[in-house]
Amino acid sequence: MENTQIAQLVELADNLDRQGLVKEAAQIDKFISAMDFTSVSPILDTDKPLNERELQRAIRIAIAAEHDAASFYELMADLTEDANMKKLFQDISNEEKVHVGEFERALETLDTENASHVEKGIQEAIEKLE
Ligand SMILES: [Fe+2]
Repeated sequence: MENTQIAQLVELADNLDRQGLVKEAAQIDKFISAMDFTSVSPILDTDKPLNERELQRAIRIAIAAEHDAASFYELMADLTEDANMKKLFQDISNEEKVHVGEFERALETLDTENASHVEKGIQEAIEKLE
């Protein structure tokens, strides 16, 4: 195979990969648009402080929002060819994952049964994935 043919195949593969990412971005955008549950405004439109259950709910919404943000920045890292921007987006995505951990810990302090439910899910998944 000649070098020009190899170059054409590489270019074709790049284009197909890019089309896949663009399609994925469109799907994620559509998905995020449909995710009304990540909106905190319905529970924050109040004059009174949040009670404990409302605060737990707000933290769960915040966790979902952090996962959304991590996925979005990771996708941006995948979509850009600029090495510095790619690193910046991946670093920010990783920071969002740290925020997930902070909110998970905060939730554990408010919902003392949360950790046992999560652990139960982990064990069920381990059994199913063996
Ligand atoms: Fe964050």
